[in-house]
Amino acid sequence: MLLRRKKAWELKESEATPESVFRQRRALVKAIAAGPILAAGAGLGIGMGPKALLAAVGEGRYPAPRNEAFTLDRPVSPEDIVTTYNNFFEFGSHKQISKAAQRLEIDPWNMLIDGMVEKEMELGFEDLLKQVELEERLYRHRCVEAWAMAVPWTGFPMRRLVEIAKPLSGAKYIRMETFLDDRIAPGQRQRWYPWPYVEGLTMAEATNDLAFIGTGVYGKPMPKQMGAPIRLVVPWKYGFKSIKSIVRLTFTDERPVSFWEELQAKEYGFWANVNPEVDHPRWSQATERMLGSNERVPTLKYNGYEEQVAHLYKDLDVGDRLYR
Ligand code: MTE
Repeated sequence: MLLRRKKAWELKESEATPESVFRQRRALVKAIAAGPILAAGAGLGIGMGPKALLAAVGEGRYPAPRNEAFTLDRPVSPEDIVTTYNNFFEFGSHKQISKAAQRLEIDPWNMLIDGMVEKEMELGFEDLLKQVELEERLYRHRCVEAWAMAVPWTGFPMRRLVEIAKPLSGAKYIRMETFLDDRIAPGQRQRWYPWPYVEGLTMAEATNDLAFIGTGVYGKPMPKQMGAPIRLVVPWKYGFKSIKSIVRLTFTDERPVSFWEELQAKEYGFWANVNPEVDHPRWSQATERMLGSNERVPTLKYNGYEEQVAHLYKDLDVGDRLYR
């Protein structure tokens, strides 16, 4: 658990959580009791049967208790906007992919854990859920395109997933991969992209207190368009590092080449730590637009998490540390 002083600008839980979230939670519980049709109407996904629904819900594990060590200095972004303005290039290279993403099949969902581990394993999502405590955290999210949001994620510390995987001592990085299935993901028929989507973290990053594995949002299971059933959440880095719908984690001693880095290394570096002082070739990074508002606000170094993560980069040169 992260030990740190509470900042004067941090909000109390009651102030930070919109009442609508609690109302939606209640609606969800009722919807589950009533069956799949109503539940789909509550935003869980189109065409889910009862088994898939319960699996995705995590057998009544939502909403999870909030971890008070992770609150915010800004209001939570509106759920209807956050869940309908998405980057998930597998389903299209625009933001309105939420309907298309409902074709993602999440039951069953198996992940391969391989590379430098004691024993390679296939880990089912439901089995994984049984081995973790779910909690809610409020995090900032900053896309390299200069929009930002404040999100109540549900999930568990990535460090717990590393423990379950049992890496060998020589492992230095974790390479993560998204599903590959161009039958359901039209974007993957665009062959100029280096599918599947890949991202990577160092072991020190993955075991930092902030690195989080998301299984839900707004007190509910993760919607498909946001990376169901399991995604990464690393709030001090640009949003593209937070890979969605993970199917494979490979422990390795070689630095992985991520999807965007392979496509355009000058624009999307491996480190990708939020930095208002280093512009992307196409977007100034000095300010950001909060989803649901036209107002621009200053961007903070490491997206406001400097105190928690700056030490991870002290041995890198400045360029590497802050952007590449
Ligand atoms: N993961 C996959 N598999 N495919 C993607 O296109 N887009 C990334 C990241 N993870 C992406 C992905 C980018 S650019 C951002 S900003 C965030 O997801 C957006 O997350 P959101 O749609 O939940 O806001």
